[in-house]
Amino acid sequence: MEKYALITGASRGIGRAISVKLATQGYHILINYASNVAAANESLRLIQQQGGEGTLMPFDVADEAATRAAIEAWQDAHPDEYISVLVNNAGIRSDQILALMPAADWSRVLNITLNGFYNVTQPLLMPMQFHKFGRIINMASVSGLRGLPGQTNYSAAKGGLIAATKALAQEVAKKNITVNAIAPGFIQTDMTEGLDEAALKKTIPAGRFGTPEEVAEAVAFLISPMSGYITGNVISINGGLYT
Ligand SMILES: NC(=O)c1ccc[n+]([C@@H]2O[C@H](COP(=O)([O-])OP(=O)(O)OC[C@H]3O[C@@H](n4cnc5c(N)ncnc54)[C@H](OP(=O)(O)O)[C@@H]3O)[C@@H](O)[C@H]2O)c1
Repeated sequence: MEKYALITGASRGIGRAISVKLATQGYHILINYASNVAAANESLRLIQQQGGEGTLMPFDVADEAATRAAIEAWQDAHPDEYISVLVNNAGIRSDQILALMPAADWSRVLNITLNGFYNVTQPLLMPMQFHKFGRIINMASVSGLRGLPGQTNYSAAKGGLIAATKALAQEVAKKNITVNAIAPGFIQTDMTEGLDEAALKKTIPAGRFGTPEEVAEAVAFLISPMSGYITGNVISINGGLYT
């Protein structure tokens, strides 16, 4: 049976690095993205360059009907297979102090992270339970662990995602499904472009931003069959920032 991994937000940044890494481990990568088809095709090209396989799977994770339709279409086309690895990585930030934050910025950030987690994860759980193997990784953030000013919406979303990780881990542990979160600090991607890197680096014990590839290594570790006893946990990848 071919092994399938669905990576949301796989067209750029951390999601792309995870896609390339898991492809080298024999997974056929389902490359989810919102709208950037050129970037998604570049992820596919990089996967194929490594000798891997991938398929584009665009949908807005915040749109429950669109997400369900895309997943059901895939399941209908692959009746004898299932998605055994899910990385809930799609996310945005829309920073502002709460006193000035428009309701739309609050809702959009929570919808993509939290409703997105529900919309993508829920339809994949029954097949994982049936096959008695699954790996779910949720991309949280240092912001969800300690809260960061100017990111009340993002901190709430990522903190909620961490709590959901711990709850779901307990629901499915007996079925050999693990659910873990990764909490990156500052990673060099489009999301952190425009931040004052020189000033921020001084606050990071390691003295630098992390790379998407360093996050992808942790995902590869967590999905391995040998990591089956690690569940409901949060792994920080932050150059010592949190501690
Ligand atoms: N970079 C960091 O320092 C950092 C730190 C902590 C946590 N994180 C988290 O890590 C994850 C990836 O971040 P990144 O830095 O790689 O971000 P990025 O470079 O901005 O890429 C974001 C990805 O998410 C996709 N996406 C956005 N909204 C979506 C939606 N509604 N439905 C489906 N896909 C959507 C984008 O697709 P399109 O290309 O189509 O727009 C893109 O592939 C996020 O959850 C982020 O919160 C990042």
